Amino acid sequence: MVSEPRVPNSPEAARTPNAPVLWNSFANMASLAGHAVTIVRGEGSYVYDDRGRPYLDALASLWYCNVGHGRAELADAAVAQMRQLAAYQTFEPFTNPPAEALARRVAALAPVPGAKVFLTPGGGSDAVDTAAKLARSYWRATGQESKQVTIARSHAYHGMNAYGTSLGGIPANTDPFVPLVGHIQHVAWDDAPALEKAIETVGAGRVAAFFCEPVIGAGGVYPPPEGYLAAVREICRRHDVLFIADEVITGFGRTGAWFASERFALDPDMIITAKGLSSGYAPIGAVIAGARVAEPFWRPGSAEVFRHGYTYAGHPTACAVAAANLDLIEREHLVARVASLEPVLADALAPLAGHDLVAEVRAGTGLLAAVEIAGDARTADPGLGPRLVAEIRERGVITRLLRGAALQISPPFVITEGEIGRIAAVFGAAFDAVART
Ligand SMILES: Cc1ncc(COP(=O)(O)O)c(C=O)c1O
Repeated sequence: MVSEPRVPNSPEAARTPNAPVLWNSFANMASLAGHAVTIVRGEGSYVYDDRGRPYLDALASLWYCNVGHGRAELADAAVAQMRQLAAYQTFEPFTNPPAEALARRVAALAPVPGAKVFLTPGGGSDAVDTAAKLARSYWRATGQESKQVTIARSHAYHGMNAYGTSLGGIPANTDPFVPLVGHIQHVAWDDAPALEKAIETVGAGRVAAFFCEPVIGAGGVYPPPEGYLAAVREICRRHDVLFIADEVITGFGRTGAWFASERFALDPDMIITAKGLSSGYAPIGAVIAGARVAEPFWRPGSAEVFRHGYTYAGHPTACAVAAANLDLIEREHLVARVASLEPVLADALAPLAGHDLVAEVRAGTGLLAAVEIAGDARTADPGLGPRLVAEIRERGVITRLLRGAALQISPPFVITEGEIGRIAAVFGAAFDAVART
């Protein structure tokens, strides 16, 4: 169900009290009039629009609402912390108990020995920029200042800050902003020898880090090809290039392990996290730095300072909410639940692969999946993807297009087997309906 048509954006309309002013992310504001979907409430795997219509949230919003919507415990944690100390900065000597406790907890959960945790305030993009700057600072601090180039992959999504945009491998997101941050190279997402070649071409003495989503997310949900992650990890080690796992989507359970780095035995130098850390109940991220990266800055007597930080880093309320979210994940055994639902989701979606309009179904890594729309059909009819998304929503399920090509499925961890079946059935019905038109 769509909301009331918006008032057109004429100068006269702009003076009317109901003229829209909210500028949506990634939206064509010229054509949004009459198509905005106003979400007012959420509970479990469902959200509700302003007319009371329920939608099964196959996205967990944007891959983050892992404990499900409407969890009162998390609101209670925020209220309790706000009454005590809503916010205080963590620059220089200042700290606070929720930030200290959360950092300790994240370090203990992460498969990163000797981890130190840098908290970031605004989601994954802040954490990506923090990790990129930390990698370069690390090499400067260890006397190898020429190691400043970072390498990322095609299809990659590392957020929308300047560094993350530049590391991204989705041309539609990067092309409008050239020239981008310099000292960045890209390699094909699935080609380990290409990484080695790029390092050798640039010169290992100039390469700081390799950024890698263990499972590519916004680029289309691509699980790693067999052997790929082990190969790139080994290449980075051999050439002394820091391996940075961007686990903004995969961190805190989405692949059926607390971290994909654990599932794929990555032994990363840094892990970037956000979304699932708080299930989105408060914006917060964390960069988990391994002992090697932390050492030059933490070694007794060191004068090195990582000159980086954010006003809301270590925000007590956000940290308290994140801790309560981790409590919920542990208490309800949600990581194990994801592992047990992995084959249920893959089996439910598998029949869609036989549809004429489907190129491929990618599933089998936790609660992450995508249904790729047939390329020839998309070329013949560029409106096909958006029509499918609309048809699916009309049937009460929210999904979206990734890279203009694939439909995202990343539900809350609390989703039931029945609800997974409903997502698959609605997708099938929508593909059938679109095929008939
Ligand atoms: C892998 C990855 N890194 C970074 C980000 C950026 O996170 P945010 O949008 O919270 O800034 C995202 C967002 O989807 C992501 O998927």
